[in-house]
Amino acid sequence: MCGILGVVGEPGALDTILDGLKRLEYRGYDSAGVALLDGGALLRVRTADGTRSVDALRDACAGLNRSATVGIGHTRWATHGGVSVANAHPHVDCGDGLAVIHNGIIENHDLLRADLVAKGHVFTSSTDTEVMVHLLEDELKCDGDLRAAMARMLPQLRGAFAVAAVSAAHPDRIVAARRVSPLVVGMTDTVAYLGSDVPALMGRVDSVLAVDEDCVVELTPGHAVVTDVHGVVVDAPVVSIDFDVEVADLGRYADFMTKEIDEQPAAVADTVAERLENLFDQPLDADVVAAIDKIVLVGCGSSYHAAMVGRVALESWAKIPAEIDIASEFRYRDAILSPTTLVIGVSQSGETIDTLEAMKHARRKGATVVAVSNIPGASMTREANASLLTKAGLEVSVASTKTVLAQVVVLQLLAISLGEARGVLDAAAATALRADLQTLPAALRIAVDDVAPMKDVANALATASSWFFLGRGSGLPVALEGALKLKEISYARAEGCPAGELKHGPIALIEPGVVVVAIVLPGPSAEKMYSNIAEVKARGATLVIVAPHDDHVVEGLGDFVVRTVPSGDAAAPLLAMVPLQHLAYAVARARGLEVDRPRNLAKTVTVE
Ligand code: M6R
Repeated sequence: MCGILGVVGEPGALDTILDGLKRLEYRGYDSAGVALLDGGALLRVRTADGTRSVDALRDACAGLNRSATVGIGHTRWATHGGVSVANAHPHVDCGDGLAVIHNGIIENHDLLRADLVAKGHVFTSSTDTEVMVHLLEDELKCDGDLRAAMARMLPQLRGAFAVAAVSAAHPDRIVAARRVSPLVVGMTDTVAYLGSDVPALMGRVDSVLAVDEDCVVELTPGHAVVTDVHGVVVDAPVVSIDFDVEVADLGRYADFMTKEIDEQPAAVADTVAERLENLFDQPLDADVVAAIDKIVLVGCGSSYHAAMVGRVALESWAKIPAEIDIASEFRYRDAILSPTTLVIGVSQSGETIDTLEAMKHARRKGATVVAVSNIPGASMTREANASLLTKAGLEVSVASTKTVLAQVVVLQLLAISLGEARGVLDAAAATALRADLQTLPAALRIAVDDVAPMKDVANALATASSWFFLGRGSGLPVALEGALKLKEISYARAEGCPAGELKHGPIALIEPGVVVVAIVLPGPSAEKMYSNIAEVKARGATLVIVAPHDDHVVEGLGDFVVRTVPSGDAAAPLLAMVPLQHLAYAVARARGLEVDRPRNLAKTVTVE
C-alpha cells in the first residue's frame, strides 16, 4: 500500500527519492508524487498512471535540475478518492508553500474538512489526507514552528497515519509523525532518511530509528530528533537492518515470483539454521514458556494458512491447545486470554494492520505475544514480547511464496522446543524432527525444479473460470493457499474448501467445466480424499490430483496427477504447496498476465 520516502541533506535528493519509490512499488500502488525544496521554493510533481506511475514520475521530472537536497516522495494506493493526479500525494496548502504525504486513513476527515472549509480553506482533492495540510497551515499561524504545528495537529486526528511535511519556510527539514501506521528514520553523518517501512531504507543505512506512536520526528541533515506531543525529547529504539540489497534485485529471473519460488530451499535452509541456533530473536523468559497453557495464532491471507499448518505441529508436538483466528476477526470475539496464553501474530511484512491490532488487543488483555515476521524491526516485532524472525530475504512479489514456507518451519521449530520444554517430546523425537527440517531444503529443490507437470495442466486448463481446491487435515491449508495463489494472480474464481464440507453445499456448483484440484497427503485423510475425488468426478469435474509419489490409488482417477516429493508428514504440506505455486504462476502467464503486482492488491496491507 502507500509508501513514503523522505531525504534531507543529500545532493540529488530527487533521484534518491525516485529510486526509493521504485523500490516501494512492490507494496502496491496506483499513483506517485514528489515535493522538493529548492532555493526557498516548493516544487511538486505527481502522476497517476497505475503501476507505471513511478516511471511516469521519473519521466515527468526529467527536465528538473537536481540541486534540491530535501524532498518527500509518495506512492499512493487509493482509499478515499479515485486514482487521479489531483488525489495523488503530496497535497499542498492554500499558499502552495507546504506539502504533506500520508499513509493510513484519517477517520474524522469529513468533520475536519467541513471546519476547514468554513474557515476559508480551498480543497483540491477528494482525499482524507488533504485535511492535514490545511490543519498544519492553520497551526503554523500560531508560532511558525513546523514541529510544534505537527504536534498540535495530532490530537485532532482520528485513525491511522504516518504523515510527513515539508515547508518552503523551513528549507532544511522534514517533520513527520505517526499513529499505528509505521514510520522509520535512518541516518548517515550528513543525510537523514524517512521511510514507510524498513525495506524502504534498505541499502542506504544499516540501522533505523523506530518512531513511537503519537511522536513527532524532525529530520535535518544527519540528525533526527523525536519528541512527544508536548515537545519533550524521547528515545527511539535503534533496530539494525541486515538485509542484503542484492536480494531485492531481479537478477537473471523474469519476475520476482519466479525468483522467490526458486529461493524457497535457501529461505527454509537459512531460517532453520538461524532458528536452530537461537529460537527467539528477543527471548521469552523460561518460566513464561513453561507456563503456556494455550496458544492463539492470528494472521491474514497466506500467513493465516502458514499458521494453520503450524497449529498442527503445536498441538501434536507441544501438546498445547491451539486456536487460530483470521486476524481481522480476532477482536470481534471475546477470546479468553491470560498471561499463560501465547498469542502468535504471523506476518511476513510485520506491518499488516489487522494482525498488528490483533496483537495489541491480545497484549491489552494480558496475553504473552510473539511475532513471526520476515522483517527485522517491523512494527509487530516491537509490539511483541518476543520475535521469531524468518530469514527468507525480502519478498517483493505480492504473491507470498518463500515467506509462507519459512513461517511454517519457524512455527514447527517453536513446537519442537515447546514440546521439549514441557517434557512431552523426548530428545530423540525432537532430534528426528529437527533433522527432517534440515533435509527439507533438498526436497524443496526437487519440488521447485519440477515445473513441467503443472505447466502442462495450466496450458490445458488456463481458460477454465471456476476452480475448487480440496484438502483435509494439513492438506486443507495447502488447498486454501493454492486457491488464494490462483485467484490473486490469474483472476480465476477459485475456492478452497475442506473436502468434507463439499457435500454440505459447494458440491452444488460442481459440473462439467469446473476444475477440482484435490490435495492428497499421506496419512489417514487420504482414504476420505479418494471418496471426495470420486464424488466430484461423478459430477463431471475436471480433476487435478496432487498426491504422494507412491499413491497408486489416484492413478486413473484424475485427468492430471501431479506427484509430490517424498518426505515425512511434517514436510508434506510444504512440499505440496510448491506445485500449486507453479500452477498459479503458469495459469497467470498462460492468460498473459503480469504476476508480481496483481490488480487491486498490495504487498503490505496497512489499512483495516
Ligand atoms: O504481510 P503479511 O504476511 O501479514 O500479509 C498478509 C496477507 O496480506 C498476505 O499473506 C497475502 O495474502 C499474500 N501476499 C497472498 O499471496
